[in-house]
Amino acid sequence: MRRFLIAGNWKMNCGPGETATLISNLKQRLPSVPDGVDVLVCPPEISLTTAADELVDSKIMFGAQNVHFEDNGAFTGEVSTKMLTEVGCHYVIAGHSERREYFAETDQTVHRKTKKALEAGLKPIICVGESLDQRKKDVHDTMVSKQVQAALNGVDESLIQDTVIAYEPIWAIGTGETATPEQAQEMHNMIRNVIADLYDERSAEAVRILYGGSMKPHNAEELLRQTDVDGGLIGGASLQADSFAEIIEIAEKLS
Ligand code: 13P
Repeated sequence: MRRFLIAGNWKMNCGPGETATLISNLKQRLPSVPDGVDVLVCPPEISLTTAADELVDSKIMFGAQNVHFEDNGAFTGEVSTKMLTEVGCHYVIAGHSERREYFAETDQTVHRKTKKALEAGLKPIICVGESLDQRKKDVHDTMVSKQVQAALNGVDESLIQDTVIAYEPIWAIGTGETATPEQAQEMHNMIRNVIADLYDERSAEAVRILYGGSMKPHNAEELLRQTDVDGGLIGGASLQADSFAEIIEIAEKLS
């Protein structure tokens, strides 16, 4: 049985002060994390130590939005897996479409980050997803399976259950437009089949596949009800304690 993972990707929002406030509001709104749900917040790097302090007695986990694939060295502006584990990160997002588009992330860098994170004991959340143009051209399946294969290439089978995939159709991110539950299920099932081909059924069943792209309290239930949707990677709605908590409560109800 896969546990739901409800993860907030705060993107470039919330410095340390706002991070402390948002986490405090979230803890107030949700005094105990439901048993059947893993809850994660991913603030900007500069706010990670604040998150660590604020979450010291909480079951809410925190993670980073990016990491470099080398151990250390002359990589101005980057952070390493060791730095992230030192502050207590559990997860790291790899290959978000915004990073692929604006910061030249490629399947190859996403792959290296995935491997590096897993070696360091960090759970990578690998983001994949097609553009509107690719969906219109009906190449979304091919595109997304290529992204999954490239990211997992050579990842040891023993580490695969620590890997999370987030299916985020680019046309649904920040647009208010969501994939229909049927579209999400179809893509999540396809991704699971790709993992089964690379490994085996058992490994594929263990991997959590999150949906991301305008997930909100009003549409979370129908998405989370799909067999292969194991949670959400939530942008906008994770920036308000109320809407994020509502989605967590929906997951709890379904767990
Ligand atoms: P929105 O929920 O704001 O559409 O963002 C989704 C996302 O990109 C999460 O990583």
